[in-house]
Amino acid sequence: MQIYNGINGLRTSLNNDRSYKRRISLVPTMGNLHDGHLALIERAKETSDVVVCSIFVSALQFNLNKDWEQYPRTFDKDCEKLRAAGCDYLFHPNEIEMYANGLDTQTKVLCPYLTDVLCGASRPGHFEGVTTVVSKLFNIVQPDEAVFGVKDYQQLIVIKRLVDDLCFPVNIISAPIHRESDGLAMSSRNWHITDDERPKVIILKQSLDWIVERIQSGNLDFFELENEAKARIKKQGFDVDYITCCNSENLDSAANDDKKITVLGAMYTKKARLIDNVSITF
Ligand code: PAJ
Repeated sequence: MQIYNGINGLRTSLNNDRSYKRRISLVPTMGNLHDGHLALIERAKETSDVVVCSIFVSALQFNLNKDWEQYPRTFDKDCEKLRAAGCDYLFHPNEIEMYANGLDTQTKVLCPYLTDVLCGASRPGHFEGVTTVVSKLFNIVQPDEAVFGVKDYQQLIVIKRLVDDLCFPVNIISAPIHRESDGLAMSSRNWHITDDERPKVIILKQSLDWIVERIQSGNLDFFELENEAKARIKKQGFDVDYITCCNSENLDSAANDDKKITVLGAMYTKKARLIDNVSITF
């Protein structure tokens, strides 16, 4: 695996690959890699010749500077995992390489409406940071395809919209949620879960599954189902950010005639905010 800290070096190598008509795939990450991230690399390898993983913790998408500073940086371990997974290039720029003109005056990419709801409502500015850094990564790498996890469902929908609206010639591939054996979605934030909380946090996934079962057996009173699921989570001692049944394509509130519904949830443990989602197709 070749590691690049600079844009120019990476581009030179990728231009060479392009001259051999190699198909290039990008997997953007913030590092602290777990098996969910590595599954994205595996997925990328299935349909491309060259896999580029990026590791960059972009301050733009963190609401609090403290959270950005404290985000776990595990570069050496990440490199080992990426090598074992067969990743070809790792792009690991620093802040100056990515925001050469300064963060405060960085040009931003906005994706309104889709980013105002769900996680966007409780993390103002977060998605603006995501769309901006992902646009930069697309322009730097110019991949044929890019792989994103369904785990961050809203992010996936926002990226698809970004690519559509700004005509990025990048095929967006979604990869399924990788879970622990009890069903907890793998996440870099899981290490904030305390030993006491660990057996109980599965309530988030269980509550989403419960809603899906109810919908499948004909209960379309989404509001009531959301409230019941929230109550179940609160009973386990966690604060709920949202539990919402949405149209899977545009994240509008679910309607009775939707063909695909995604039930999304976010809850707080003492030190983490966990998200998950489950989809149903009719
Ligand atoms: P990060 O949280 O590191 O996630 C990188 C990618 O891994 C995302 O596409 C995310 O959806 C996917 N992922 C995380 N956990 C997963 C799991 N359990 N199963 C499957 N996929 C999983 O998301 C970001 O970074 C950033 O916002 C980024 C897109 C890199 C922009 O900075």
